Parts: sequence; C-alpha cells; structure tokens
Amino acid sequence: MHKNFESTADSADLLDWYDRHARVMPWRVAPEDRAAGIRPDPYRVWLSEVMLQQTTVAAVKDYFRAFTDRWPTVSDLAAAEDAEVMGAWAGLGYYARARNLLKCARVVASKHGGVFPDTAEGLRALPGIGPYTAAAVSAIAFDRAETVVDGNVERVMARLHGIETPLPPAKPELTEAAAALTPQARPGDYAQAVMDLGATICTPRNPACGICPWREPCAARAAGNAAELPRKLPKKPKPTRLGYVYIARRGDGAWLLETRPNKGLLGGMLAFPSSDWTEESPAEAPPLSADWADPGLEVRHTFTHFHLRLAIRLAQVGTAPPSRGEFTPKHAFRPADLPTLMRKAYDLAAPQFELTEP
Ligand code: ADE
Repeated sequence: MHKNFESTADSADLLDWYDRHARVMPWRVAPEDRAAGIRPDPYRVWLSEVMLQQTTVAAVKDYFRAFTDRWPTVSDLAAAEDAEVMGAWAGLGYYARARNLLKCARVVASKHGGVFPDTAEGLRALPGIGPYTAAAVSAIAFDRAETVVDGNVERVMARLHGIETPLPPAKPELTEAAAALTPQARPGDYAQAVMDLGATICTPRNPACGICPWREPCAARAAGNAAELPRKLPKKPKPTRLGYVYIARRGDGAWLLETRPNKGLLGGMLAFPSSDWTEESPAEAPPLSADWADPGLEVRHTFTHFHLRLAIRLAQVGTAPPSRGEFTPKHAFRPADLPTLMRKAYDLAAPQFELTEP
C-alpha cells in the first residue's frame, strides 16, 4: 500500500514543547539562548553526536566533559597522541568511533583550518562522518533543514504514522516520514526536540502518551498500540566465542600489555595479550614462555554480535623478552585506559599477584 506521510502533526507543537522541556546537556545550547542568537560550537556538537551513537546520554556526559576539558578545540584534539585519545575513550565502547574521531579531527585541523564544513555534504566527506552525524551536525550546529534519524526518531515516526512494517526493513519508510516533518524554521532545535521526545515521552516501554505534544495526531495512540511499535524482526541469537587472556607481571610490578591492531575488535586499544576468540576450542597462544597458572577465573563480555568468555592465565615472570607486547612499568599503567573487557580481566587478575618489591 502506498502511504504518504502527510500528517496532521505540526513541528510547531513539538517546538513549543521543547521550549518548555528541553533536556539540559553539556553540549547543548538551550532553546532560549539559541533564540537570543547564541550558536553551538560545531566541535562540541560533532564530538557529542559521535559519542552518543550506540551510547546513552548518561554514559556520555562524563566522557564529553573529560574530552572537552583536555582538548577544548578540534585542533587540540588533532594534536593529541593516538594512545591518549584511545585511553580517554576506554569504557565507551565501539572503538572504531575513537579512531575515526581522531582521523576526522586531523583532517579538519590540517585541511579546513580547524573549521568544520557547514553543510551535510561537506561534513559527509570527512572520515568517520556518516549520514547520521552529517545530518545531526549540520542541523544542530548550523541550523540546516536536514533530517536526523536515530532510534528515537524511528520510534516516534512509527507511532505517529502507525507504521506496522518491522525494523530494519521499515528504515526507508521511517526516514521518509521524518523528512516530511522536518521544518525550515529552527531545524536544529527541532532535531533535538524529536530525539528528546523519544527519550523522555515516546519511550520504548510505557510511553507517556497523555502528556505528549503529538498525542492528537498520533495514529498509534488512537489505535492503542503505541507500546508495540515499532515492530522488530526477530534478532539472531548471539553465538559465544571462547579464548584465553594472558596476564603476566614482572617482580618489579610491570605488566605485559600490547596495543591491539587498528583493524578489528578493540582496535587501537591497550590490552592484555589474548588468543584468537573462536566458537570452538581456541588454541592457547601465550605471549611468552612461562609457568602459566590457571586461577579458575573467566572474563565474560558481550559485543554487538557475540558473547565472549576468556579464561584467565597468569604468570609471574622474569626479564625474558615477550614475543608480543611490552612490559609497562606499574606507574605508567592506568587501568582506566583499558577497554571494559580488559578492565574486567585486570580486576579479576590484579589481586592474584604478590609482588616481590613494594
Ligand atoms: N541523542 C543523540 N543526539 C542527541 C541530541 N542532540 N539530543 C538529544 N538526544 C540525542
């Protein structure tokens, strides 16, 4: 059935709601300040939108503050060492975002004089900026009438129009619906307003339809099935992969660590050496020959496409050089620089070592 997305929903009603209920966020310019002519800093908008992909506002806030305190401008970020940025991103996940962030900052600093392009098309040409980020930055930072579609926006559109097509096939239809509603007036506030509506009123479970600024035109509210939309195709169950993680420590307290290759999972991150992660009996792959102990401990972590269980192996070692990684003196090692999987391994392993020197 052909559907056109002429809705009776009015962007002005949503903007009125946003003027009263906009969430306060460290990267956001409040609607009254925008109305007074204050423009958001494109660097802060870009950084926040990259951090917010696949990640909640609550998880992002402290990282955003830490990044902007340490690197107040895109040129400051561009001048940072890779390892500093990867360490500062540790714990946020999806580490390709951090590698691309740095690449993008370096291109903006070196080829654009530290100034972000102000169109979606110009932004899209930068490394790591896809359709979502280009639309979000051009709308929020530059008030261009681009359509921003994230999971919140998809849910709002599915309900407003009563779209029964399941996700992911519904994506083009939901994007079309979102585009049809995007106003020429205040597109930056509007983009943030739809996302706020999805995050606070039009929530996945128990939507607060009674206080929604779009309750009148909402098809799902009329049908009484808002909480069931958007429908979703069943997800494939996640397989479990297995492996070993090797934690070696010298008598002087130095830890054996490596930087993982840029390509692949946890790419570019600090890590303890590990074996391949495989669905069937992984092969042991110790990074140096030592008397590896099995403490009977296992780290569990879930990635996007699989669960992982790594058996911990521990060794107290001498000065023989490893075949992988480097010994990092204990004062130079910050556990906070580890991605969550490796941090879990560290938290389990650290109490097992007895140091010969204080
Ligand atoms: N989620 C991602 N970006 C957002 C933004 N700018 N405002 C509200 N929620 C968001």
